[in-house]
Amino acid sequence: MIEKVSVGLLGLGTVGSGVVRMIEANQEELQHKVGCPVHVEKILVKSLDKARQVEVDESLLTTNAEEIVDNPNIDVVIEVIGGIDLAKSYILKALSNKKHVVTANKDLMALHGHELLAAANENGCDIYYEASVAGGIPILRGLVDGLASDRITKMMGIVNGTTNFILTKMSKGEGAYDDVLKEAQELGFAEADPTSDVEGLDAARKMVILGTLGFSMPLTLEDVSVKGISQVDLEDIEYSKQLGYTIKLIGIAQRDNGRVELSVQPTLLPNSHPLAAVNDEYNAVYVYGEAVGETMFYGPGAGQLPTATSVVSDLVAVVRNMRLGVNGKTIVSPQFERELKADEEIQAKYFLRFYVKDEAGAFTKISSLFAEHNISLEQLIQQPVKDKDMAEVVMVTHNASKKDYNQVYNRLRDLDVVFEVKSHYRVEGE
Ligand code: HSE
Repeated sequence: MIEKVSVGLLGLGTVGSGVVRMIEANQEELQHKVGCPVHVEKILVKSLDKARQVEVDESLLTTNAEEIVDNPNIDVVIEVIGGIDLAKSYILKALSNKKHVVTANKDLMALHGHELLAAANENGCDIYYEASVAGGIPILRGLVDGLASDRITKMMGIVNGTTNFILTKMSKGEGAYDDVLKEAQELGFAEADPTSDVEGLDAARKMVILGTLGFSMPLTLEDVSVKGISQVDLEDIEYSKQLGYTIKLIGIAQRDNGRVELSVQPTLLPNSHPLAAVNDEYNAVYVYGEAVGETMFYGPGAGQLPTATSVVSDLVAVVRNMRLGVNGKTIVSPQFERELKADEEIQAKYFLRFYVKDEAGAFTKISSLFAEHNISLEQLIQQPVKDKDMAEVVMVTHNASKKDYNQVYNRLRDLDVVFEVKSHYRVEGE
């Protein structure tokens, strides 16, 4: 019989404060769900005399992590300090001291998840990390429990709120990339240094976690092909609209014949696709299972209380496992070896926008190039550029292998009738 559960919290920033607030505000419901009181015993902070986002008893605060990870009274350590090295060393220490761990740290789980899960397993401890992907959306639990019976073949995620906010505003005509990024920074969606969000790294880390769990395969960050949104301009968005598409930063994890593709890139989706309607800072993960068909998980991908919701739900899972005596037993190691698709096996449609000489035969050269690589065109717009002997061409191809497409793209840039290939994006969801 467990009389109470004591939590050590590493970090009292935005998410940590949310965790404290939720444990206090929902204590009655938590006790009902787990059968005993759950309380915060100690909190690691950087400085003892900083203004806090939540009221806490000062005696709970410490600047010494050992008071948490080595504290015999603490059952569960919640890591919300972020970063890699310190967080990792605290978690490993906590696990070696037989403490269960909950973390919201996607960077850490994407880079060192396999090692941390192995350490948890060795120590008979739990490690849960629901908040690491898509904040308040219970997508990891959705994959691991909700869809446990099915074979997942495809996941497409809008898993970065900052870029979704920027692309949504650009699509609504509320400004160009730089202006909207600035607005996102002022509103606190985008970081002062937005590189990891806008260049797709944040989304790539989340896709590693989704791919690893969804396909039961030990995938790594190096397996993700990544392209961000900083090159997307208003013309790309306008042409996409004319052709019936919406541009989103999409993480794709696809499995065919046991081989996997992981990527993150600006992608054109038909306006009718459920992900096309996911706007502003919201996140969503579209999951296709062989038996279930299409599903979509939607909600807030960040924010104090949404993220704390996932963290505290993980805490509930840990305490339930404690009551059942099954901690550490719910960790399932990947079933499959890591098998990645070759470029020949990755099929997609592509959108291309480029400038050509406005002269006889120019288009013949271009279409011959596509024909040589067996890529057929589905949609085409060509219009003269005012006051120049130049035309702007926008096209969408039929399905092509990534290998063929890359060859065409590289040769297109070298054609004497082509001035510049302005942009090119993957087209998905049809
Ligand atoms: N920077 C992330 C985003 C926050 O924009 O979605 C949550 O990981």
